[in-house]
Amino acid sequence: MRKKVFIKTFGCQMNEYDSNRIYESISKIGYKKTETVDEANCYILNTCHIRDKAKEKVYHEIGRVKKNFNSKTKPMVIVTGCVAQAENDEMIKREPYIDLVIGPQAYHKINDSILNHIKNKEKREETDFDTFLKFDYFDKIKNNNNKISSFLTIQEGCDKFCKFCVVPYTRGPEYSRPFNKIINEAKQLIDNGCREITLLGQNVNAYLYKEKNKLYKLSNLIMKLEELPQLKRIRYTTSHPIDMTDDLIECYGKSKKLVPFIHLPIQSGSNRVLKLMNRKHSVEFYLSIYKKLKKINSKIEFSSDFIIGYPGETDEDFDDTMKLVKKINFINSYSFIFSPRPGTAASNLKLVDNNIAKKRLSLIQAELFGNQNLKNKMAENTILNVLVENKIKNQNKFFGRTEYMTSVIFDGEKNIEGKVVPVLITNSNQNNLFGEVMYKKNIKAA
Ligand code: SAM
Ligand code: SF4
Ligand code: F3S
Repeated sequence: MRKKVFIKTFGCQMNEYDSNRIYESISKIGYKKTETVDEANCYILNTCHIRDKAKEKVYHEIGRVKKNFNSKTKPMVIVTGCVAQAENDEMIKREPYIDLVIGPQAYHKINDSILNHIKNKEKREETDFDTFLKFDYFDKIKNNNNKISSFLTIQEGCDKFCKFCVVPYTRGPEYSRPFNKIINEAKQLIDNGCREITLLGQNVNAYLYKEKNKLYKLSNLIMKLEELPQLKRIRYTTSHPIDMTDDLIECYGKSKKLVPFIHLPIQSGSNRVLKLMNRKHSVEFYLSIYKKLKKINSKIEFSSDFIIGYPGETDEDFDDTMKLVKKINFINSYSFIFSPRPGTAASNLKLVDNNIAKKRLSLIQAELFGNQNLKNKMAENTILNVLVENKIKNQNKFFGRTEYMTSVIFDGEKNIEGKVVPVLITNSNQNNLFGEVMYKKNIKAA
């Protein structure tokens, strides 16, 4: 039987990593990936529940698949990810077109569930929090991802319970993978051609693994990865301010591969709102981390996440957030209006008037995007180190990123993928830099 799978992924980088690992798992039972939905006889929707009408979006998407396959044989339909976890067997009851519902900590059961469905047509829902078993299973399957820049999940779940957030319910409690397994996987990625690793976790800097009375933290992982000669850059995301411990901060002075760029969500610039959110840190604490990092390396830049219009946010609270944004010139940030999540502590709180929230969002975004534009403009006529990720299809141009994650599109010559090259920036817009490789002959990796 021809086995072709189409995987559609919503949400964060951890979902992207999971989708790759799911594919590697099901390729062991004969599935090949297709980029054409119509060809698929297995359709996987890897979902996100973080905001908006996430659940409804999933049912609409399934509706589209249903329509698409109206006159053809129905594919096996599998819903994975955070909506699968939150909705579990309700999904199959509401939409019988769905065959399997598999939560983020139960992916080790996916092959069995698929084979069982093929044989018995049985519908299944697997939503136990078996994180240990999941990683144990994936550790036995080689990571074949061959991208220059790859994700590597080292930690899952969250014990912090910010009142707005669904993650502790969809990803379960904090779990850290064994240190050596992570290093082994990093080596596999590097053998496949990877030159930049982004360590992932919902609370990546809460990583803590104990073995034989020795504790391993994120700082230990970074310094171990530092030793791998072919690896050029190390990133990690997403961090929580309270887990920015001194040993991690010191890595910015010790490591040559850790990029001078950190995504450190603050959510609000008002202590009152941070308290309402149960964020467990104050603005002053955040600023103390900022200062410590800047002292170690003044080139370190920050990005953040902001929730605008959290229940109870006043004009004064919002002004405090604007002040913070002006104080720290975040070079790239995400900002969204608060979205009530079913089952969270903030789900039934009185909402800020939508027009007010929208107005605040446009003010903060004007400031954040202004910073981004300015930073990119200031890069013009300078030479930046760019890690080349790929050649752009049907063009003589390449795509890469600066240490600060800014996309660069530039003229270059053959065989520069995977190298760090000096690029003269000649032009920019809000999201991209444009330029040309400086030394077209004898390009050496930096
Ligand atoms: N663990 C990270 C932290 O504590 O900063 C954040 C992970 S969460 C997957 C990513 C971002 O989604 C959050 O930083 C927050 O800004 C946003 N988010 C989470 N719940 C939200 C909600 N109910 N409404 C709007 N944005 C939300
Ligand atoms: Fe969500 Fe807060 Fe946990 Fe981040 S720390 S994943 S925002 S509950
Ligand atoms: Fe979304 Fe789950 Fe990631 S809710 S942001 S896919 S952890």
